[in-house]
Amino acid sequence: MSFEEMWRALLPVGRDAATGGYHRFAWTPPELECRAWFADEARRRGMPLEHDRNGNMIAWWYPEDGTRDRAVLTGSHLDSVPGGGAFDGPLGIVSAFAAVDLLRERGAALRRPIGIAAFAEEEGARFGVACLGSRLLAGAIDPARARALTDGDGRTFAEVLHGAGLDPDAIGPDDDLLGRVGCYVELHVEQGRALAEPVGVASSIVPHGRWRFGFAGEGNHAGTTALADRRDPMIPFAGMVLAARDAAERNGTVATVGKVRVVPGGVNAIASSVTAWLDARGPADAAVRRTVDEVGAAAREAARPHRVTVEVAEESYTEIVDFNLALRDRLVRTLGGAPVLPTGAGHDAGVLSARLPTAMLFVRNPTGVSHAPAEHAETADCLAGVEALAAVLDDLARG
Ligand code: GLV
Ligand code: MN
Ligand code: MN
Repeated sequence: MSFEEMWRALLPVGRDAATGGYHRFAWTPPELECRAWFADEARRRGMPLEHDRNGNMIAWWYPEDGTRDRAVLTGSHLDSVPGGGAFDGPLGIVSAFAAVDLLRERGAALRRPIGIAAFAEEEGARFGVACLGSRLLAGAIDPARARALTDGDGRTFAEVLHGAGLDPDAIGPDDDLLGRVGCYVELHVEQGRALAEPVGVASSIVPHGRWRFGFAGEGNHAGTTALADRRDPMIPFAGMVLAARDAAERNGTVATVGKVRVVPGGVNAIASSVTAWLDARGPADAAVRRTVDEVGAAAREAARPHRVTVEVAEESYTEIVDFNLALRDRLVRTLGGAPVLPTGAGHDAGVLSARLPTAMLFVRNPTGVSHAPAEHAETADCLAGVEALAAVLDDLARG
């Protein structure tokens, strides 16, 4: 199967015909179909498939001498944000299978295993915590907290894992698996307009996190409740959205409220509660923290006159990630001097960098759009990405 054939096979899975956006949430039917596709591609290549304890999958190519350690891991994720693009995640996995095919055609002699990983719930679109599979693997989230996370229908992560045939009590850090891996290199579509050449190498990921704002008021009739009697959580919520923009401008960060849940959500009813999620990112921890503190303060101030309560909970936070310098330089050398660039997007490679040398390759995105249907990479650039990944894997797996 060529890159293009694999790409075409995945393209319709979870795609909304009206918008062209993808809805591939962890362990929902479209994502399960992507997982089945992954297992088929592994089987077709005779790559043994490992299901780890945390919902991640790895397809292995072992050297002929049976070596099982110091593996070079690559891959990405199959899940998407709501209405996401086709490339964020799957490009890294399809490219990895295509790179393995190239290496095999060229008769590459491995001294270290190559693994292709599909990490679970990278976007956190279902359970709220981004990179959940790699966080569990790396010990970056308390397994008890992960088990209790709920999706939009109130189903816990533990229940969903159990339904998928996994043991929720077994999730958590996996030093056996990590101990077999020497490094991780993730190929990903670039998510802005910062890459002018077909392929680049990542330098860093900016600090970023998610915070849940709960506004609790009192549900009541939209026609019969006098303004003075209302405890309307919608009003401080609106203040919070505007405060996020102001705080981001003041602090040189970015802040986004992209998801909100209104209960009960009736046109003719004052809401009883509003839950809104703040995503904040910036060049330095202090600036991101200040942004969130200022939004929290503004939300409380806006809530007081309306007798609405506000609760703020941090759902996830990732400090600045500077990718391993030696590995990054090695990739740049292997590629004959690729451009090096930072990113404002989070990745499993960022989470795993706390435990392993990690690096990333980026493929140019001519639209500069991501997490939306217009996300794009030209086929020629994707194929350049496959060549680059093959060169990097070849170099690393020989060493
Ligand atoms: C993941 O893509 C993120 O940056 O949120
Ligand atoms: Mn993403
Ligand atoms: Mn991604």
